Amino acid sequence: MSNRPRIAVIGSANVDLTTFADAFPRPGETIFGKSFHLGFGGKGANQAVAARSCGAEVVMVAKVGNDLFGEATVKNFASRGIDTSLVQIVDGVSSGVAPIFVEPNGQNRIIVVKGANDTLSPADVDAAEATLCSVDAVILQFEIPLDTIYHAVHFAKTHNIRCIVNPAPAQQADLVRLQNADYLIPNETEAEAISGVSAKSPDEAKACAAALLQSGFRRVVLTLAERGALLASSEGMELISPFAVQPVDTTGAGDAFIGSFAVFLAEGLPEKSALSRANLYAAISTTRVGTQKSYPSREEFDAAWQRQAVSMSR
Ligand code: RIB
Repeated sequence: MSNRPRIAVIGSANVDLTTFADAFPRPGETIFGKSFHLGFGGKGANQAVAARSCGAEVVMVAKVGNDLFGEATVKNFASRGIDTSLVQIVDGVSSGVAPIFVEPNGQNRIIVVKGANDTLSPADVDAAEATLCSVDAVILQFEIPLDTIYHAVHFAKTHNIRCIVNPAPAQQADLVRLQNADYLIPNETEAEAISGVSAKSPDEAKACAAALLQSGFRRVVLTLAERGALLASSEGMELISPFAVQPVDTTGAGDAFIGSFAVFLAEGLPEKSALSRANLYAAISTTRVGTQKSYPSREEFDAAWQRQAVSMSR
């Protein structure tokens, strides 16, 4: 057996249909976009690819449709060395898809059609028990049914497996049934949706993180895009500094952060070092187009980490 970290992602897989445009059409208007990019995405799949690119053994627990996108998605996982034995192809429903629109500054807008992702059930988590019990961490997001997420959090707690919940995309949820997660990692929008507390300004972000701790979460990492990440726990709050880059497409940066963080933590790095590395990993991903395609390999990442360490020491 290898001593690489083992990560399980229970979550979504989509095909991303990304259009780059200078503006967005008004109702009834047709405009020209600048370019188009077809790629593999889905928050779960992206996190799995990020973790794999960082060097972990990764198993994906997911459902895709019995269509061209589903078959291609399974092949994509396999080509990256991700264990697909728990990815099911299901009839009667489309694969998940995500039309994405990216503005010139790299900012994105996404519509997700969940399709087969919405059929991943608590029973599918139970069926994966033998595999899940061998991993260092389980990662969950909100593109599969909430009941499946609640069940998986309970499962991870029962089996003493580190559990990371990324409540994305933003929606309200039963916090009591998520509290046993070791980490809750929302962005500002998701944190607002789940807590009901605004997180727009730095002070608001702290108040929002405090509210999430108050509601029972042990550790919250609020990702703040170009402002870094806020780590909140009973030990206090700390801003994990960002790395300045020129973004071209921020899609999937949050997923890059979460997948890489899970690996760095499972490798035994102290939490703040793991978060800082995840900040850099995510920042690099924004300098390239696409989601999974934008994620650096471990070698690339290690070289970038070294370079920034040298420049900091000057
Ligand atoms: O986080 C980015 C992802 O959100 C995209 O890949 C898209 O599929 C949606 O799930």
